[in-house]
Amino acid sequence: MPEKVLVTREIPDAGLRLLEGFDVTVLSEAPPERDVLLEAVRGAAGILPTVTERIDAEVMDAAGEGLKVVTNMAVGYDNIDVEAATERGVVVTNTPEVLNETTADTAFMLLLAAARRLGEAERLLRSGGWDAWGPKQLIGPDVWGKRLGIIGFGRIGQALARRATGFSMEPVYHDQYRNEDAERELGAQYLELDELLEGCDFVSIHTPLTPETTHLIGTEELRKMKQEAVLVNTSRGPVVDEAALADALAERRIFAAGLDVYEEEPKVHPKLLELENVVLAPHIGSASIETRDKMAALAAENLAAVLRGEQPKTPING
Ligand code: GLV
Repeated sequence: MPEKVLVTREIPDAGLRLLEGFDVTVLSEAPPERDVLLEAVRGAAGILPTVTERIDAEVMDAAGEGLKVVTNMAVGYDNIDVEAATERGVVVTNTPEVLNETTADTAFMLLLAAARRLGEAERLLRSGGWDAWGPKQLIGPDVWGKRLGIIGFGRIGQALARRATGFSMEPVYHDQYRNEDAERELGAQYLELDELLEGCDFVSIHTPLTPETTHLIGTEELRKMKQEAVLVNTSRGPVVDEAALADALAERRIFAAGLDVYEEEPKVHPKLLELENVVLAPHIGSASIETRDKMAALAAENLAAVLRGEQPKTPING
């Protein structure tokens, strides 16, 4: 009997193809309701979830003792209770590396769009409110020549630093760990968080979501930023206190923000939706055709490897 595999969402074929030979259920196009997930997971040896599913002890226990592997189709894995998995002998994997460049592109896209007011500009044009070129119309700060502070200097943060250099920006970073090789290679100076917030024109967040990074950026941190600064977040919503950010933007304590992630997705703080000086994207950081294929393939490859008794490529535990 082929082993049962639950794929929680419709993923690219590049991934599904690699699961041939297993008894695969693809649950739904939209995020499944919790009770649907709990029912569908029964008897699964492998689960391939996305960021929209919380895979905790309850889900693992609903799967039962035959569960061997959970392969998240994402680099971030705050939606998975890794400790509960480890206790149950369940391997957890994620999809690092394959989305670095695409996610760094998204961060830079939001940085440019927020600085140069692209969302606001497009809304003006589409609403029929654009009547002429204006010498002071829709002006925002230059990006080139400015200092970019990168919070979280992992693979995506470093990919962003390379983009910054190409745009004649000066990259600096803060991270829990110093990485002197990367500092040398990318010419990015290490700064304490306060120094970074006080001294940068642009700040982009690339940390994983952990208890330590939850609300890493709140009212106090936003007060430290320059009034003309732009904040970008493509990591996880709860790293930024969304209400505090909405206040800072409304009071023009910072110039603008570009967000791809939110505290309670798919909800967005209602105040942010009212503001012109924030560009809002619906969690599309890794959403290129090529990268989504690679993420699906890597998650599926990891799943198949574990069920065949082999080492997965990118394990988080074990
Ligand atoms: C997406 O958010 C990811 O973590 O890959």
